[in-house]
Amino acid sequence: MAQKKGRVFSGARPTGKQHLGNYLGAIKNYVALQDEYDCVYSIVDLHALTTLETTRDLKQNCLEMALDWLAAGIDPQKSIVFVQSHVPQVTELHTILSMVTPLGKLTDLPTFKEKIRDHPNNVNYGLVGYPVLMSADITLYKADLVPVGIDQAPHIEFTRETVRSFNYRFNTNVLIEPQMKVTQFPKIMGIDGVNKMSKSLNNEIEISATAEETQKRVLSMVTDPNRQRRTDPGNPDICNVFALHKIFSAAEQVENINTECRRAGIGCVDCKKMLAQNINANLAGLRERRTELAAHPQDVLDVLADGDKRARVIAEATMQEVRRAVDFLE
Ligand code: TRP
Repeated sequence: MAQKKGRVFSGARPTGKQHLGNYLGAIKNYVALQDEYDCVYSIVDLHALTTLETTRDLKQNCLEMALDWLAAGIDPQKSIVFVQSHVPQVTELHTILSMVTPLGKLTDLPTFKEKIRDHPNNVNYGLVGYPVLMSADITLYKADLVPVGIDQAPHIEFTRETVRSFNYRFNTNVLIEPQMKVTQFPKIMGIDGVNKMSKSLNNEIEISATAEETQKRVLSMVTDPNRQRRTDPGNPDICNVFALHKIFSAAEQVENINTECRRAGIGCVDCKKMLAQNINANLAGLRERRTELAAHPQDVLDVLADGDKRARVIAEATMQEVRRAVDFLE
């Protein structure tokens, strides 16, 4: 195997079936990094617990996400794919890192303030420690690079500071300061055209949807609100359907729509049908692979079990160094 540039670690909360926003923003990026880096991708179920009211769907959501990841091309031959809670060393490191974390730093984070706004009745201890657990994820696997969306920047900065605090406090260099790799991708709006695509807002298009479901969702997308009638000219610059055409359609077609929409030469329904067709063509291979994988759930569990095993080897090696640095009785 060619020498890799370093280790990548990223995690995503198990939200179940993934949508176009997850796919374009995170998953495609995970896939692309696999050849150059030694990648570790985690389904962070412990992080999910910080805001879950019930764990009813937790198992299923982990499985659905794993199916989407594998179908999209995350390759277990190249990368480690595993479930966070299956490698309990992360909770041990979390506890140790919590001792070098000033509480005020956690409660000052903008991400924490957002979470208490969204979950005012469930501000649990784990939620406050969310970034500490994330630092434990990253440092346990000695990641050099963490691909994440810009919203996660405060957590990566927090991780870097935590590494410095830990290494200074215990006079060691076992933990590594990670770099952030900002995932550059236009924000994918939901079918409502105003909010970021999100499962909780029910405005998503699932990558594993059937062609028919996809068409139905696309046909319900909000377009330029000023275009009331078929004969009104539209403005592609503010139209979410056009934004997706730019991602999924050939340059020539995009150019054509751009011109025709502005002079009412094409209507929204036809424009959406073309988009649905292109999304479906683009995802056909992924969907086929997913159907095959879903027919053999034990194989997916085996892939995850193998990922757990490989992750645990790295995790335990780091923890041995960490325990020694802290100077626990051996
Ligand atoms: N906090 C991340 C998010 O909400 C998920 C996450 C948990 C993560 N642990 C991580 C991302 C480690 C990168 C690295 O998206």
